[in-house]
Amino acid sequence: MSDELQNGNGAMKGAIISTDPEFRKRLAEVFSPEAGLEFGLEVDQPFTSITDSQLKKLQELDSDVVFVDLESDPQVGLKFAQFLVDSNLARAVVGAGNVTSPDLLLQAMQAGILEFLPKSLDSEKVSGLVERLRKRTGKPSGVKKSRELGKLLSVFSPKGGSGATTFAVNLAVAMHQLSRKRTLIVDLDLELGETALLLGMEPRFSSVDLVRNYHRVDEGLLASYIEQDSSGVELLSAPYQPADFQSVDGDRIGAILNFLKEQYDYIVVDAPKTLNPVTLNAFEASDHILLLSTADLQSLRNVTRSLPLLKGLAGSRPEDWIRLIVNRYNPSLPITVGEVERTLGLKVSWTLRNDYRAVIDSINEGRPAVLRKKSHYAQNVHAVAADLTGMGAGGKTKSNLFGKLLAGVGK
Ligand SMILES: Nc1ncnc2c1ncn2[C@@H]1O[C@H](COP(=O)(O)OP(=O)(O)O)[C@@H](O)[C@H]1O
Ligand SMILES: [Mg+2]
Repeated sequence: MSDELQNGNGAMKGAIISTDPEFRKRLAEVFSPEAGLEFGLEVDQPFTSITDSQLKKLQELDSDVVFVDLESDPQVGLKFAQFLVDSNLARAVVGAGNVTSPDLLLQAMQAGILEFLPKSLDSEKVSGLVERLRKRTGKPSGVKKSRELGKLLSVFSPKGGSGATTFAVNLAVAMHQLSRKRTLIVDLDLELGETALLLGMEPRFSSVDLVRNYHRVDEGLLASYIEQDSSGVELLSAPYQPADFQSVDGDRIGAILNFLKEQYDYIVVDAPKTLNPVTLNAFEASDHILLLSTADLQSLRNVTRSLPLLKGLAGSRPEDWIRLIVNRYNPSLPITVGEVERTLGLKVSWTLRNDYRAVIDSINEGRPAVLRKKSHYAQNVHAVAADLTGMGAGGKTKSNLFGKLLAGVGK
């Protein structure tokens, strides 16, 4: 029987495993065919007393998502979640309960848990969750979008000072230059965001103001927090005063980014180096993670440490979901591109030359390098932008050539 016949509305099928009657009731209320997720099975025993016949029911349900309540016994819960994933009893497992310990979060990701749902459900969190689960389980949304969704790229480097922010800003400007399409930079480095500085802008509002005042998806509200730069890109800035990411609801970031994808053709997120809930939600919403490293041991070690978590998030997405970029590259460095690839087990998609002059002059002037006179750095960023916008001629050599032709554009 096809999914459409089983639940004619195309809703995903879910199961819940929880000893908490209140939570089971709330979940069953919040989720409905209209909300995109229907419940087919409730299991109310502790993990250790779940019977074979219940597991068989779960298998027959062929559920898209199983909610596992981890509150009563997180360790056994995680083992059970892992079992569900390993034995293909669920396409996606969502952990419920407030998990705040980073250790537990990491273990959960390793066990294959895709998301966490706080037990205090609200419809906003639920709709964001359903959308993300659809993507992860490959189940198309029943809702027709009026336009194609924009492409969201998160720039991330686990080691500060690798050039992530510089690259994010230049990439966005270059993508806009090449495509002339609506392009937005979202600065999620809530403590030390510097994208506005690099653009020479003084924004009045920030992403934190938006998250705090965001109660429903509203185009008008969003627009009031976003500012246009003279380069043509738009910016949702980080706050001028450092904000504590713990005071910012990570789930809201996810919902906001998904909504922004409906408005913009390209969104470049400057992610902070910490893997906090805000960052993880941004990654979830991303079409690619642009992972920046420099070719030195310290940076490679930090990247290696963050890779298991990133790969866990990647789930069943295409292999090129994570694209590796080596910044501050110089052919005479002792560590070669080949060695970087072998160390990290990832192909290097692009290199950006070490180009102190171009970068420092651009900072001093508050004008991105890709808008200034020709430089190696600008040329390399243009090559990346050409590939990502599909404006390049395809092959590496050709798009580099295309980048070269464009690198002098802003002279
Ligand atoms: N390709 C490059 N060549 C030379 N200097 C660079 C390059 N990329 C970045 N930098 C410099 O490195 C420093 C850190 O860059 P930044 O973008 O703030 O890093 P991150 O966001 O990863 O902390 C800045 O001083 C910047 O000018
Ligand atoms: Mg930065």
